[in-house]
Amino acid sequence: MSVRELHLPKIRPGESVFIVGPKGSGKTVLAKVLLLSRRNAIVLDTKLIERWGKVGVRVAEKNLLQLRGGRFHWPASHAFILDKDVQDAIFRGLLANGHRTLYVDEAYDLQLSGGLKLVATQGRAIKLGLWISTQRPSHIPLFLISEAQHFFIFYLRLKRDRERVEEATGVRIPWERLQRWRHSFLYVSERGGLLGPIKLDEASVKAVL
Ligand SMILES: Nc1ncnc2c1ncn2[C@@H]1O[C@H](COP(=O)(O)OP(=O)(O)OP(=O)(O)O)[C@@H](O)[C@H]1O
Ligand SMILES: [Mg+2]
Repeated sequence: MSVRELHLPKIRPGESVFIVGPKGSGKTVLAKVLLLSRRNAIVLDTKLIERWGKVGVRVAEKNLLQLRGGRFHWPASHAFILDKDVQDAIFRGLLANGHRTLYVDEAYDLQLSGGLKLVATQGRAIKLGLWISTQRPSHIPLFLISEAQHFFIFYLRLKRDRERVEEATGVRIPWERLQRWRHSFLYVSERGGLLGPIKLDEASVKAVL
């Protein structure tokens, strides 16, 4: 079977997304492409090395999360953004508003807090979608992963990470099929349907790079 180009699945407001893959596999590029179709997207970028301009994410001027229409990126300092209380305040602020997509680019640095738990478990009802990507799914609490409706899975080398993804999705992932094409991934839906390997088409990648 050859690799297919992607017809992106429809992600409804409030639904959650989980993207896994090693460094450089294409998680952020995929997230940017998916975010292009979102209104009111907010990015919590814990690494602060990405440029979000092309995705239409507007950079706020102050170190404050602005909950107005449009897309926002939080250009706060690294230490600030990794502070547990600060993260908790972001999550609770978003819960008060709903109708947003919060994308956490690399959840490795996500701090477990009451606010995050509430967003993960109650966000869907108020159309607050939590999208997460990570290199190491085995480090992320299962409750955060298993709440997702959409899984995008790049090739994972480590057994522990693979097992985590299979545990969360309830699907046996054909890892060897993923290894063949660089930047290819599988799509698994909440109900266990599996598509792929898939690659983004060139035009979509160009639009966000
Ligand atoms: N679908 C793709 N087609 C072609 N090139 C791609 C694709 N996806 C990613 N790339 C290339 O690979 C690079 C790394 O991709 P990306 O930043 O999305 O990886 P990542 O998984 O987010 O890595 P990290 O874990 O380090 O954040 C991109 O800058 C781009 O040059
Ligand atoms: Mg990335």
